[in-house]
Amino acid sequence: MSQVQDKAAQAYGRSFNFSAGPGVIPVPVLEQARDEMLNWQGSGMSVMEMSHRGKAFLKIAEQTEDAVRTLMGVPANYKVLFLQGGASLQFTMLAKNLLGAGQTADYVVTGAWGQKAVEAGKLEGGVNVAWDGKSGKFSETPDLAGLTYSPDPAYVHITLNETIQGVDYLADPGIGPDVVCDMSSCIASRPFDVSKYAMVYAGAQKNLGPSGVCLVLLREDLLERVPAGLPPMLDYKVQSENGWMYNTPPCWSVYVLGLVCRHWIDFGGLEAVGRMNEEKAKVVYDAIEGSGDFYKPHAAPHCRSRMNIPFTLPSDELTDAFVKAALAEGMSELKGHRSVGGCRASVYNAFPIAGCHALAEFMKAFAASNG
Ligand SMILES: Cc1ncc(COP(=O)(O)O)c(C=O)c1O
Repeated sequence: MSQVQDKAAQAYGRSFNFSAGPGVIPVPVLEQARDEMLNWQGSGMSVMEMSHRGKAFLKIAEQTEDAVRTLMGVPANYKVLFLQGGASLQFTMLAKNLLGAGQTADYVVTGAWGQKAVEAGKLEGGVNVAWDGKSGKFSETPDLAGLTYSPDPAYVHITLNETIQGVDYLADPGIGPDVVCDMSSCIASRPFDVSKYAMVYAGAQKNLGPSGVCLVLLREDLLERVPAGLPPMLDYKVQSENGWMYNTPPCWSVYVLGLVCRHWIDFGGLEAVGRMNEEKAKVVYDAIEGSGDFYKPHAAPHCRSRMNIPFTLPSDELTDAFVKAALAEGMSELKGHRSVGGCRASVYNAFPIAGCHALAEFMKAFAASNG
C-alpha cells in the first residue's frame, strides 16, 4: 500500500479496520465506485439500476471476468463463475455436483470452516476426514503429500487459509487427486497456480470486494460429473451454460470485485501483492514474538497466516482492555473469535502497512504498561 493511499484513507477519517470480513476495500476502488455511483460511465444509471441483460452490464461482466483471469492467471479451461449464497453454499453445491453416488470425498480439516464443509458434505454423500487438526486446537496445517487418502476419492477438500485459527498452507497442494479449495480468506493475497486445483471458491468479502458474491473457478471437465436433476440454481452446468446469470446476479458486488482485481493488477499483480502482505504480517508477528510471553500466537510458525493473525494475552481482562484501548487509538475489530479467544488482526490485501506499524507500536506500549 503506498504512502499516497494511506494519506487518502486518513483524509476520510477511516480507522485501521482489522475486520475478518467483510474486510477493507482499497480506497481508490471505493472512490471510483462513489464517482460512478449515480451514472456509470455515461450510461445514465447506476450499476445497481441497470438490467443485467443490457449492454452496459454485460460489458462490466466481461471486464470483471477478464480482470479475474488476468490477476489470477486463470487457464482457459477453467470457468469463472460469480455465484450467490457465499462460500457456505459452495460447501453444499460442490458436494452435490462432484460427489457421485457411491463415491467418497476426502476432507482435510484445519479449522472451523473446514469443519463446516465436512458437515455440509456429509449430507450429500460419502465423506472421509483424511486429517483433523482439532486435537491440536487447529494450530497447524499438515503436509498434504504425507496423508493417506481414500482410493480414488471424488476430490480432496482443503481450506487454504483458516480465517478463525489463522493457519495457512502457504503453498499450493502438490498431490494427485483433484483438490477442491476454499480460498475465501487468502485468495489473491499471493501468486497461486490455479491448475493445481480442480476447483477454487472464495466469498468476495475479504480480498475481492463486497459480500454477496462468491467467485468459483472450475475446471471444465468437472461439468461432465454433474448429475442430472439438481435444482438449477445449485447446478454448476446450469450456472456455466447461462454465464452465471441463470437468475439476476449480484450486479453491484460483481462490478466492485472487478474494480478490486483491476486495482491489484495495476499495483503489480500477485507477486507484488504477496511481497506486500509478507512485509505487513511480519510487522505484527515480530511484535508478538518480541513481547516475551505477553502475546502468544495461535498458529505454529510454519503455517502462520499472513491474512488473519490470532494471538492471546495473559487474561480475558487484559484482552478486553487491549481491544478497548486500541479502538480509542483508531484500531477497530481486534477482538478474536470466541472459539480461539484473545485478539485477531486481519490484515487483508487492502489493509495498509501503516496500520500494522500502528498496531505493533500499540502492542509494545500496552505490554510495557501491563506486563
Ligand atoms: C475460510 C472461509 N470459508 C467460508 C466462509 C463462509 O463464507 P460466507 O459467509 O461467504 O458463506 C468464511 C467466512 O468467513 C471463511 O472465512
